[in-house]
Amino acid sequence: MSRLSRTDRPYDIVLFGATGFVGALTAEYLAAHAPEGLRWAIAGRSGQKLELLRASLPGGGEGIGLLEADVADPASMRRLAEHARVVATTVGPYVKYGEDLVAACADTGADYLDLSGEPEFVDRTYVLHDARARETGARLVHACGFDSVPHDLGAYFTVQQLPEDVPLTVDGFVTADATFSGGTFASALNQFSRGRQMLAAARDRARHEPRLMGRRALAPTGTPRFAKEVGAWAVPLPTIDPQIVKRSARALERYGPDFRYRHYAAVRHLPVAVGGVAAMGALFTAAQLPPARHWLSDRLKPGEGPGPEKRAKSWFSVRFVGEGGGRRVFTEVAGGDPGYGETAKMFAESALSLAFDDLPPTAGQVTTAVAMGDALIERLRRAGLTFRVAATR
Ligand SMILES: NC(=O)c1ccc[n+]([C@@H]2O[C@H](COP(=O)([O-])OP(=O)(O)OC[C@H]3O[C@@H](n4cnc5c(N)ncnc54)[C@H](OP(=O)(O)O)[C@@H]3O)[C@@H](O)[C@H]2O)c1
Repeated sequence: MSRLSRTDRPYDIVLFGATGFVGALTAEYLAAHAPEGLRWAIAGRSGQKLELLRASLPGGGEGIGLLEADVADPASMRRLAEHARVVATTVGPYVKYGEDLVAACADTGADYLDLSGEPEFVDRTYVLHDARARETGARLVHACGFDSVPHDLGAYFTVQQLPEDVPLTVDGFVTADATFSGGTFASALNQFSRGRQMLAAARDRARHEPRLMGRRALAPTGTPRFAKEVGAWAVPLPTIDPQIVKRSARALERYGPDFRYRHYAAVRHLPVAVGGVAAMGALFTAAQLPPARHWLSDRLKPGEGPGPEKRAKSWFSVRFVGEGGGRRVFTEVAGGDPGYGETAKMFAESALSLAFDDLPPTAGQVTTAVAMGDALIERLRRAGLTFRVAATR
């Protein structure tokens, strides 16, 4: 539970960016699933848009507060942090818009969570704000959506099925049928165009992060291969997810003395795998050239995203193969529309978990597995996501 008591702050949860695509889905989820007595507010830069959103929420938005705040005004970020036990933000690209709010939460002791899949941002906030958050007791939890909840909690769940105190390996294989929003596209393009800054932030983090003593936790990039254990072509996925899994393994002894995680997209047909790699390469190249980047960002505007019909048909499955101590286990995390419906669910349930669950005492920059682990798995299962053991050998 948040270490701030209900009397410390007027709201349990403030949702910043509520008028955006995922923000509005998260507000709908919270309004429909809020536990009795939840004190929460929606926040954004336009009071008018916030009023419209509130009126459209289940129950007419009764009892939901409104807070105006703009990332261009750091004092308004401080006000958000001072009004909430838990601040949840969907205002991205985070590397562009996110830092002042993390700083305000770290400084005032409010718990913070976001949907960032941007390694540069996460590494920078570690270097700049982890120490202060540890002093105030604030938990800073990034990547609380499809990036990286199913992968982080899936690896955590898989480790729990394996013996203790032995070297462990876990491979994750992601399959999904879904499309993305303007906000996600903008964040991805922005990240692709900042390769040098991303590497510099990772190096800076490595200089500040304490060495792991007496244990190893690695997330090496795998090589493309046919993975007969899942019957599909496995293509390494260079997302933030393996970095997050590695951080959970560093923090938790249960991952054993020598842990290795590899992260793949699983594709049934070889031409699809080759096409996917080529398309990603083309997007990466285009993002380096400002005119091409602007042309691409005009194709899908912020605030736009897949409609309810498309989202209803979308799905994801992440299969894990874990090995260690003579045991092999196959597990799966699965659900509906990964980027939006399920991301809003994972994000809202993470905020509720930080606010109300009895969690291990942690502070500073922590992953979803470290901050919330079993409590969040339980919440997500109740909310309809699958966490299952498919087979053991
Ligand atoms: N982890 C995951 O799996 C996952 C999944 C989906 C999305 N995401 C990430 O989540 C973020 C949001 O995505 P989205 O599709 O919801 O984007 P979006 O529709 O463009 O929403 C962005 C939000 O930011 C707000 N905003 C922009 N500039 C602002 C400012 N100066 N001050 C205050 N608010 C400002 C917008 O407010 P207005 O409404 O006033 O414009 C809007 O509410 C992106 O970074 C995306 O990559 C992550």
